[in-house]
Amino acid sequence: MSGGGAGLRGIAAGNTSICTVGDGHNLYYRGYEVAELVKKCGFEEVAYLLLRGKLPTAGELKDYRVYLNDLRKIPPEVGDVLQKLPPTCNPMTVCQLAVDLFALTEPETEPTEQQALECSEKLLAKMPVMICCWQGRSASFDFEQNDQSPIAADFLQRLIGDAPSGEQVAALDAALILYAEHEFNASTFTARVVAATMSDTYAAMTAAIGALKGPLHGGANEAAMRMIEGYSDSEQAAAATHKMLADKTLIMGFGHAVYKSSDPRSAVIKEVSRTLSEHHPRGSLFAISEAIEQVMRDEKGKFPNLDFYSASAFHFLGIPTELFTPLFVCSRITGWGAHIIEQRSDNRLIRPTADYRGPGPRIVPDLATRT
Ligand code: COA
Repeated sequence: MSGGGAGLRGIAAGNTSICTVGDGHNLYYRGYEVAELVKKCGFEEVAYLLLRGKLPTAGELKDYRVYLNDLRKIPPEVGDVLQKLPPTCNPMTVCQLAVDLFALTEPETEPTEQQALECSEKLLAKMPVMICCWQGRSASFDFEQNDQSPIAADFLQRLIGDAPSGEQVAALDAALILYAEHEFNASTFTARVVAATMSDTYAAMTAAIGALKGPLHGGANEAAMRMIEGYSDSEQAAAATHKMLADKTLIMGFGHAVYKSSDPRSAVIKEVSRTLSEHHPRGSLFAISEAIEQVMRDEKGKFPNLDFYSASAFHFLGIPTELFTPLFVCSRITGWGAHIIEQRSDNRLIRPTADYRGPGPRIVPDLATRT
């Protein structure tokens, strides 16, 4: 291993029953293929599956939606602070702060599985509202909603101001499902390390958000968007991609640490993006994305990961680019929560060792003799 190690690629760091990449190019949540979950379920059903271990019955789903809807309200002291933060703040730092502020008002009382479930579901319901609150969007509850309105519909309505179409809600729901969980990725592993110290769920979540913030992890969709929207047509995009590859520039939204031939989530989100592009004034961004994909495949053998086409899909939904990664947080809270619960169910402090590469034992020289 070199200085930072080889990124622990291929090393199993623990057991899990939540999610697996299966045969190397399929993703399963508790045994269900993610593409099938997108076709047959809404995000709340998948959240229930991840956090509570089974798909809900129709009755359980109805109750769950009402329960989550009730949890959406945020304490006024949290709302006050978020509203006063300037819009220039880093959105992921705002997400961390939102979790911490909420933790201060309603701390977790003991590190049990039940408490982890309750805290995770509170954040699942509140995080989209807390983000909108900071953005100066509607944090109130005065628009028309029924007590079962999905998280995706509520978020879009707050953000855009108008009631979203069924197609828009389905598109965001699909993205939320695809982003919900991904085995021992960097942020989830971070959450488990923190949970294993018997710290609280909120501390594990803020640490996970910190890991997700990095452009090699959650920040890739924003970087992909900024690249895609900089091109006016497919030819320009293709030429620029060739040049970036020649310059050895990392192209965000391509490649993956686990998948080596394709990311199963990409085909799903690509179709979502294609459909949304048909009704959008800047629908040409889809063709631009395809041109970049083609060059990446031909020249580098790299395939798009979930972040690449989710960038244009989110853009077509009217979501500001700086909220792409916070939206990832809103979804991944379910996966993080499931892993915190699982960690607590059979906890052992996570404490690996390192292969030491530094100097051998030596005497500390006196200050006056040091060079
Ligand atoms: N653009 C250009 N080149 C890339 C690339 C990309 N997006 N992803 C990988 N490569 C290159 C690497 O630089 C490496 O080149 P080298 O052999 O000349 O050093 C080669 O392809 C092999 O990389 P690989 O081992 O497959 O990837 P990894 O496991 O080291 O890294 C990622 C995986 C995800 C960190 C990496 O693909 C990446 O940084 N992608 C962009 C960020 C991104 O989209 N992140 C979201 C992940 S869901």
